[in-house]
Amino acid sequence: MFQKHLIPNAQDLPEGKALTLKIEDYDFLVTRQKGEIVAYENRCPHQNKPLHWSEQEVVADEDYLKCHHHGALFSPLDGTCVTGPCQGSHLKKATVGIEQGNCYLLLA
Ligand code: FES
Repeated sequence: MFQKHLIPNAQDLPEGKALTLKIEDYDFLVTRQKGEIVAYENRCPHQNKPLHWSEQEVVADEDYLKCHHHGALFSPLDGTCVTGPCQGSHLKKATVGIEQGNCYLLLA
């Protein structure tokens, strides 16, 4: 059984950009990649910290999600750390569902 949480403004998220979303005690990163919405838990595998310093900070550039603590770069397509102190580890992917044009995080 999943709990469904609306991702506000996901339809307006530009290609390659990311937003952060807090649901209860959990932080998520939501990004649009190749037209699809992809979400990860916002926890760097290096030190288990959110990737960004502040809510306003953009955490994605055109190619990577970046952890601003020690510079790890993650593939936005599958969450793999491609360089940095946790190279080879992964962001934990979250399940995204679409219903009637709205995007939702589906949490177990
Ligand atoms: S906490 Fe992310 S690179 Fe160190």
